[in-house]
Amino acid sequence: MFAYIGSRHDMLAHIPKEQVNTIAEIGVCKGENAEWLLSNFTPGNLHLIDPWIAYPFDNVPFYYLDSPAGIKFNEDYFGGPLADQATFDALHDSTQAKFSDAKNVLIHRRSSRDIVNEFDDQSLDLIYIDADHSYEAVLDDLFIWESKLTNDGYIILNDHAINASGTPKFGIVQAVTTFLRNKTHFAPIAMNLNNYADLILGKRSSAHTELLKNLVTSGKIIEVPDSIISNYHVRKSGSLSWLSFC
Ligand SMILES: C[S@@+](CC[C@H](N)C(=O)[O-])C[C@H]1O[C@@H](n2cnc3c(N)ncnc32)[C@H](O)[C@@H]1O
Repeated sequence: MFAYIGSRHDMLAHIPKEQVNTIAEIGVCKGENAEWLLSNFTPGNLHLIDPWIAYPFDNVPFYYLDSPAGIKFNEDYFGGPLADQATFDALHDSTQAKFSDAKNVLIHRRSSRDIVNEFDDQSLDLIYIDADHSYEAVLDDLFIWESKLTNDGYIILNDHAINASGTPKFGIVQAVTTFLRNKTHFAPIAMNLNNYADLILGKRSSAHTELLKNLVTSGKIIEVPDSIISNYHVRKSGSLSWLSFC
């Protein structure tokens, strides 16, 4: 697999656009990434899937909440307390307004598990997973959505690595490791080296020729062993943090 030196969207822009007609994003929030997916790929259909429901944080923490700074970070990002349904209703309404003129954007106010079986097998060219970040939920998303991917398609996971100062309850790295150990017909293709990294997975049965050509000629990649993706961690020095394979 390749380690990509650059932002997530810089890396994802190397995915050949003509290969991507139907996209599903699982976990939409305010639609920031959805806007990028729409403008970069101009897909025939972009399915946006999110229940927009408040989280019972005393029960099942979703984001890092163990400090006042952690709570403030989340409230700033989501636009209000995460236990309040009003916060999520506002996020849903603003997302709906944002895409009201885009006929190819289909908003589904449903959870991942609730809607997955309404999609045919091998019907999605790109599946972007950025929903519940716990180990169990990410693994579940990978297992329930993988059959929906076309042969040459891509599953992308957001937050595959995160800032050293936050979110220890994320389980994406561990879930991907378990998934790849079980689903050996999938391989990691590339991951960007910023905080909150994206990881691109693809099927081994596809050559992924165009994507690989684009990545290699970008001059921004280093090839690393596939097995390394479960071995890196975030290092920190003062206010700096970075992904380290050492
Ligand atoms: C980090 S935000 C998504 C950010 C968005 N992908 C972006 O980059 O702009 C996570 C979202 O996942 C949603 N979510 C949580 N559990 C979910 C589930 N089971 N199915 C779908 N979405 C879920 C939350 O409501 C929240 O809006």
